[in-house]
Amino acid sequence: MSEPLLSVRDLRKDYGRRQAVAGVSLEVGRGETVAVVGESGSGKSTLGRCVVRLSRPTSGSVRFDGVELAGLSARRLRPLRSRFQLVFQDPSSSLNPRWSVRRLIGEPLRVQGREGDVAGLMAEVGLDAALAGRLPHQLSGGQRQRVGIARALALSPELLVLDEPVTALDVSVQAQIVNLLLRLQEERGLGYLFISHDLSVVGALAHRVVVMSEGRVVESGPAGRVLSRPEHPCTRRLVDAVP
Ligand SMILES: Nc1ncnc2c1ncn2[C@@H]1O[C@H](COP(=O)(O)OP(=O)(O)O)[C@@H](O)[C@H]1O
Ligand SMILES: [Mg+2]
Repeated sequence: MSEPLLSVRDLRKDYGRRQAVAGVSLEVGRGETVAVVGESGSGKSTLGRCVVRLSRPTSGSVRFDGVELAGLSARRLRPLRSRFQLVFQDPSSSLNPRWSVRRLIGEPLRVQGREGDVAGLMAEVGLDAALAGRLPHQLSGGQRQRVGIARALALSPELLVLDEPVTALDVSVQAQIVNLLLRLQEERGLGYLFISHDLSVVGALAHRVVVMSEGRVVESGPAGRVLSRPEHPCTRRLVDAVP
């Protein structure tokens, strides 16, 4: 058996006395999409931030391609960082408003001292070359999210943690971004940890679903089974919320 791409074991993150993540275990394989769903405040974003080490877990194990990240110093972690990337819900908050699309997409490469194919990345995420000189506020929401995805792809990661990446978008644009993510996964063999509270989006791309409530996993299984025959009341509420 080869190691899963991502293996999380009994992960905990406390904020003072509040247990935001209270012992979560899950795995993501190469080319696989695992959706983490749950109501607002259930700990999804905290889990995602701990996986990419924007937050330091209180305890538990995060193994990436067989390497334990939990105890690693910042220096030892640095060379691994390009292999997993976070895509945010609202790219505006993570995009420098004064930078052009060209510079925003080129920046992760520059930071690593690497040459990169910015035009190729733009084409790959469906951004017209004519947009290269635009600033974030001159783009549509969908175009901004394509910039966020291109930035995440710049260093050729193997895992993307996507935190509500289409929640802020119109439904028709959501479908375009979901199709883009499906194509990128196919072409690059990416693993996705896809965080969402919207099960209609999850149904379009997840292989497996993990349901969180109050920092814990309350149900998990193949997407088809969880969405068609939800067992836990939390899952049923999320299923019933789909129009
Ligand atoms: N930086 C933080 N400081 C203190 N509490 C936090 C912080 N981030 C999240 N929390 C708390 O942790 C819990 C889980 O939050 P979050 O992970 O954002 O949930 P979700 O993404 O599922 O909505 C919430 O109670 C939230 O208030
Ligand atoms: Mg969240």
